[in-house]
Amino acid sequence: MTQTLTLRRPDDWHLHFRDGDTMRAVVPHTARQFARAIVMPNLSPPVTTSALAAAYRDRITAAVPEGIDFTPLMTAYLTDQSDPDDLVAGFADGVLTAAKLYPAGATTNSAHGVTDVANISGVLERMAQIGMPLCVHGEVTHSDIDIFDREAVFIDRILAPLIERLPELKVVFEHITTRQAVEFVDASGANIGATITPQHLHINRNDILVGGIRPHMYCLPVAKREEHRLALREAATGGSTKYFLGTDSAPHHRHDKESDCGCAGIFNAPHALESYITVFEEEGALDRFEAFASENGPKFYGLPLNEGEIMLEKVAQQVPATVNGGAAEIVPFHAGETLSWQLAS
Ligand code: DOR
Ligand code: ZN
Repeated sequence: MTQTLTLRRPDDWHLHFRDGDTMRAVVPHTARQFARAIVMPNLSPPVTTSALAAAYRDRITAAVPEGIDFTPLMTAYLTDQSDPDDLVAGFADGVLTAAKLYPAGATTNSAHGVTDVANISGVLERMAQIGMPLCVHGEVTHSDIDIFDREAVFIDRILAPLIERLPELKVVFEHITTRQAVEFVDASGANIGATITPQHLHINRNDILVGGIRPHMYCLPVAKREEHRLALREAATGGSTKYFLGTDSAPHHRHDKESDCGCAGIFNAPHALESYITVFEEEGALDRFEAFASENGPKFYGLPLNEGEIMLEKVAQQVPATVNGGAAEIVPFHAGETLSWQLAS
């Protein structure tokens, strides 16, 4: 008999949909698997206000295939000029679920990000008061800090002092990639959670660089040494309620990745659940997958658990070499590989 795993409908607590044709091509992949998703605001220009977030939400909703029940949860992109009143109002009326801190220059479309957290201290104080979560891209951007150290340095220089100053602030330390991040989250209070991507559970930096450069394995924060991957696997599958599913699926067209200056981002949306469940199976933790995928996130955000269930079956499938990305094709994570699980339709 085929092995199966049934779980409460899961959510993706961090992903990129983009806009226009690309968005219309990628939204169905996420909506097929997840009930809700925290949508990143790093469009060009960025989604900096409640009004822009509401308009973007409506464009996403229009791209959800008929008959699928999927809710985008919107975030506002913080800048040095963010208006606290607008963010608070957006959170109060349900347009915004969280706000996103991109240190300026850290990653794709982050040029308008925050140049110094001191510049948004008023915003962060208000967010702490009302319980509005802060999603954090945790990397410093100084040119003198090695790219493989940027997350660990961010913890020491920015995140730890911030939480000490605002101990009530709810913080999602996003797409963590290091043992130091796991240790920090484990040692913090219940208001500090973290998302973990499938790629950081599967690959280490050798996968990007050994035998030739693999642009489709490049994302930010960049994958680190094997010891870090192992720490992340332990965190995701070890039963702590502080860790939850966030794919950071980040579509870029193939020619933008396979280029002189290739974009950061791994498009994992098409087989996100199958990618994660493979890790849980390898770690002997299938019984912990539901909490990671469907419970820890909503509990952290203070949102209801989803109704309904999905089923994964142990049936092999081959991941295609490319998928439709609107104006051009996109190479998905696990392209050409055989995954041993499949989401039942
Ligand atoms: O690899 C990444 N891609 N990391 C990010 O933080 C942003 C994302 C994107 O938007 O492409
Ligand atoms: Zn992201």
